[in-house]
Amino acid sequence: MRDPSGVTAGVVIGAGERGAKAYVSLLEAEPDLARIVGVAEPDAARRRALAERFAIPAERCFADYRDLFAEPAFADFALIATPDALHVDPALQALERGYHVLLEKPMATNEPDCERLVRASEKAGRLLQICHVLRYAPLYAAVKQVIESGELGRIVTIQHSENVSYWHYAHSYARGHWRNRTESSPMILAKSCHDLDLLCWLADAAPVRLTSLERPTELTDANAPEGAPAFCIEGCAHAESCPYDAVAMYRDLSPILLDLRARSGPDAEAEPQAEDVPRANGWTGWPVSAITADTSAEGVERALRETRYGRCVYRVGDNDQPSSQNVDVLFANGVNASFTMHSTSHREGRETRIDGTRGSLVAGFYTLEQSAMVSDHKSGRRRRVALDVETGAHGGSDPRLFRAFLAALRGESDAITTAREALWSHRMAFAADRCAREAAVAVWGEQENG
Ligand SMILES: NC(=O)c1ccc[n+]([C@@H]2O[C@H](COP(=O)([O-])OP(=O)(O)OC[C@H]3O[C@@H](n4cnc5c(N)ncnc54)[C@H](O)[C@@H]3O)[C@@H](O)[C@H]2O)c1
Repeated sequence: MRDPSGVTAGVVIGAGERGAKAYVSLLEAEPDLARIVGVAEPDAARRRALAERFAIPAERCFADYRDLFAEPAFADFALIATPDALHVDPALQALERGYHVLLEKPMATNEPDCERLVRASEKAGRLLQICHVLRYAPLYAAVKQVIESGELGRIVTIQHSENVSYWHYAHSYARGHWRNRTESSPMILAKSCHDLDLLCWLADAAPVRLTSLERPTELTDANAPEGAPAFCIEGCAHAESCPYDAVAMYRDLSPILLDLRARSGPDAEAEPQAEDVPRANGWTGWPVSAITADTSAEGVERALRETRYGRCVYRVGDNDQPSSQNVDVLFANGVNASFTMHSTSHREGRETRIDGTRGSLVAGFYTLEQSAMVSDHKSGRRRRVALDVETGAHGGSDPRLFRAFLAALRGESDAITTAREALWSHRMAFAADRCAREAAVAVWGEQENG
């Protein structure tokens, strides 16, 4: 350990939404778990904010990761949460300098770079863990245990869906950073590599065949409501009826709160209606923090007038992420999986169904709820799987992943989302993107299944 106190020390590369919040917030509650002793972030306000939170000295605050890695290594690990296209070089530099690395997904935006990262971490003898957070969600950890217990018998099929809410798709994949697949990465990689990783983990085998279909986005000029102005705030006549109205999304937060407060289950009819949801003027967290550094009322208003986030969602211009994509996979052990990602869900969440020779499991994963029910074929008995569910981003899995990474560094446990483990989720995403565009089938041979 390089920190004189003997506590594990880390540096943050990219102090944005993920780098500054998702994982390191845990250290404010539990400072003895690890210390953050350096930061590289070009945005001065973000850099300063992180430095203040963790008392990072000025000489260890850098505007670029290259400057930080030009210094002799001064911490045990680097948390790398830069934009998708900027993962490979900082990760390689960190590994070369001897840092262990916690790297945001996608590890890279092409397959050769993913393989390069795996080789680099193995050559350096350093842990390279990818942030496939869903494996740490209480729900999916429990589902994995049910499968391993044999309660479902031999697994025959897995049906899994990622129900991306209409507002999240509009925010990230029509107006936001990931709107253009060439500039960032295909949505099946950016959003759903977690889900492809889950399929591999739950099937417990490597894929041998995959194919995919996609539907292009609805959010194009051709579908724009008549007379809609370029920016919603310019007095759009459709604001009251348009679910994508940027003013409602970012100033009032009404669609987002409606989603977060919604509950599924038998009394679904009692889900809150738009008029029941109080408006949340003054909210400064995500997604407002993603559209402007100045989250005051004036700052949000400016972002609504001047940035892409305020634009009519049909008239952004260069968005090309699909509105839905299906991926069908056959695994080496015969498990047959089908995955659907779609972008028009009333609420954000995932649903999973696993059928085996002895039983079936049906599970739901939502922001405030996680549930799983197992049915036994022979007896007809059903049982609800007990879950230790936390609220928070990804159902509490972000801090769990970070805690597991730190435990692996201390040698207390094995990391379950190493870069080698994550290779398949990424290969599947690249293959799905290609197969959807070329109407092809990807076939992997035994030699690639290692
Ligand atoms: N694991 C998950 O579930 C999950 C969820 C959301 C996002 N992500 C991934 O996390 C990553 C970051 O996403 P985000 O939403 O935090 O984005 P963000 O834009 O909020 O943060 C990225 C930060 O990197 C900084 N940066 C850019 N160039 C840099 C450089 N040369 N040196 C140091 N820092 C630099 C930016 O200034 C920015 O602050 C992305 O790859 C994204 O796909 C993962």
